[in-house]
Amino acid sequence: MQAPIAAYLQALHAQLAGANAGELASYIPELTKANPDWLGISIVTMDGVAYSVGDAEQLFTIQSISKPFVYGMALADRGQQAMSEKVGVEPSGDAFNSISLHPQTGAPLNPMINAGAIATTSLLAGRTTEAQWQRIESSIATFVGHPVTVDESVYQSESSTGHRNRAIAWMLKNFGIIEGEPMASLENYFRQCAIEVSCRDLAYMAATLANGGVNPLTGQRALPAEHVGQVLSVMATCGMYDFAGSWLYEVGMPAKSGVGGGVIAVIPGRFGIAIFSPRLDAKGNSVRGIEACRRISRDFGLHMF
Ligand code: DON
Repeated sequence: MQAPIAAYLQALHAQLAGANAGELASYIPELTKANPDWLGISIVTMDGVAYSVGDAEQLFTIQSISKPFVYGMALADRGQQAMSEKVGVEPSGDAFNSISLHPQTGAPLNPMINAGAIATTSLLAGRTTEAQWQRIESSIATFVGHPVTVDESVYQSESSTGHRNRAIAWMLKNFGIIEGEPMASLENYFRQCAIEVSCRDLAYMAATLANGGVNPLTGQRALPAEHVGQVLSVMATCGMYDFAGSWLYEVGMPAKSGVGGGVIAVIPGRFGIAIFSPRLDAKGNSVRGIEACRRISRDFGLHMF
């Protein structure tokens, strides 16, 4: 099985390398500095081995792929019951930056859209926002398997232009979903989105979810087992935003995308998959990331249903 994975990835990379549909994200100005041709693909198996091809070591910002992991941290810190009072688990059918709040309670519809993710970040354990940041940084490091850093230029770029997210954070404060200081939580959210990862790192993060919450290389537990299914469920129904239904129909795996160009997909008990290709479609998902997952799902028969 192992040699075939490496050969398969080489062939897949060659098939997709020439495709150039999609655009770099530009609403965060610093993201336009990415090379649109970058293409990396990594698969990590449950014995902790990574198979990578292309630009799999290139660092880029994790962006929204941080959201399911931070949601897992919040579940571990607060418990499922308390979280369900603050953030829902219904697909919104709307764009990732839509203000999809429950009309009565003000709770964001799910933790994958920006509104739900900003709320989730504010709910992490820690007496100060600095302590909450430490929680994010150390937990992401456990998922990846090594310490992580923040791309300060991307962080500053989003912080100085992200007024829509700022408005969302104030709305969440208005509804009592955010209890503390909303602007401080928002900065933590911007920082978590600017964490630098490689495609290979993302595949280890996905593989940790596939492995019941334990990093398959380091053996360290990143997430209590009881919350892994909850995280994968919201990834399956909401991870690709207003493409989530088509994604589940066609590809059939829990997944998450980010506007930095990453996509992860999780095959429980088998693989963590990551693709890095920064050209995005109109919904903010990596064009070649989607296509690579379509082909992997089809070629290995990995659709869940
Ligand atoms: O909040 C934002 O808009 C970005 N930091 C993250 C958005 C994102 O990655 C959407 N995913 N495809």
